[in-house]
Amino acid sequence: MNLELCLGRSPSGTKVWLKEPPNPHVYISGQSGSGKSSFLKQLVWQALEQDALCLVLDSSSDFRSCTPPDGVSFRCVDVMGPAFTLNPLARAGQDSVACAQHLLGLLEQVCRMGPRAALELLQVTQSYLKVESGVPSLVGLSQYVYSLSSQKPVSETVADSVELVAYLVRCGDQPISVDLTSPGLLVLDLSQVLSQKLRAILIEMILQTVWTQRCSESLAPSVPLIVVLDECQGLCWGENGMAIRILREGRKFDMAGWFCSQWLSKGPAVSALHQAALQAHFRPDDCGIARLARTLCPGDRTEVSKYRRLLQSLRVGQFLWQRQGHVPVLVSVSPRLDPKLVNMNNFFHTKENIG
Ligand SMILES: Nc1ncnc2c1ncn2[C@@H]1O[C@H](COP(=O)(O)OP(=O)(O)OP(=O)(O)O)[C@@H](O)[C@H]1O
Ligand SMILES: [Mg+2]
Repeated sequence: MNLELCLGRSPSGTKVWLKEPPNPHVYISGQSGSGKSSFLKQLVWQALEQDALCLVLDSSSDFRSCTPPDGVSFRCVDVMGPAFTLNPLARAGQDSVACAQHLLGLLEQVCRMGPRAALELLQVTQSYLKVESGVPSLVGLSQYVYSLSSQKPVSETVADSVELVAYLVRCGDQPISVDLTSPGLLVLDLSQVLSQKLRAILIEMILQTVWTQRCSESLAPSVPLIVVLDECQGLCWGENGMAIRILREGRKFDMAGWFCSQWLSKGPAVSALHQAALQAHFRPDDCGIARLARTLCPGDRTEVSKYRRLLQSLRVGQFLWQRQGHVPVLVSVSPRLDPKLVNMNNFFHTKENIG
């Protein structure tokens, strides 16, 4: 992924660029109102102008009414609407074993499942796929599970988790109903999914489907794919969750994760996000300042208090960027946010590197 991103300006007024980073991932943190989402949008706009596909999982309808740069394709799909379908069982070319394992991988992320339940799910899914003559679906699987209960009762864990995902998504004949092969802005609007837990499950299902599709494409995926998630604190941040997988392995498939959150405390999430090449720390809340200062320079007490003061003094739209092996740089983001008013090509017409 060869994106060149202008991040803002250094205190001396020089433009700060992200070029040829070691990985394509971005993590933006900071307290509410510190300027995270505005900065994220500026990055997305620049990526779109460089022909990336930006898949925005939008929980707050932030991107629904936006105007992307001229000439950029823009699609917004309500995940609860009829145009959106997702079918983890519709995997052309895969046998029933692989398909059942795919479903298990998914459900393990969203429900607690011991080895017995896991085995049961694999068996029941395989036998459903054998008897289903049409397009398999989660509703079909759920009904099949209940039809079995008189002969060979299936555990509640399996029956309930299948029923839950069947309730959440409408199944079509494709793994996912949106095109992930051409550049542009693709917004999946999740604002109608009100429960945070259900939203996290649905995001996990979408990410897993996108991931599987991405990995099964030819070795050279046609278009760089950036998964954009504002407010990512509610995700399933388990060790085997998709967000962590994207951060750890996405680079191999030209796939980036751009995540934004106020503060994350879950261990796996923190360690995975701290591998992102661009970590933009906007002003944290008062509790987060000391923690972040310690993370920025562990072990050095004089430096910690220096960064604590620096973090405290950050204004809206300013962040600290720490590149590996470098001292953190203070960056001020342009306040010009409205894409209709900003033509990024003109706006960032000269490219200067910082030292
Ligand atoms: N670079 C900037 N310069 C000046 N003002 C800015 C800048 N970026 C954002 N703002 C102002 O700060 C407000 C909050 O910005 P933004 O919504 O991006 O914050 P946030 O960190 O995403 O907050 P939340 O966590 O609540 O979503 C914006 O409405 C805008 O007025
Ligand atoms: Mg925001």
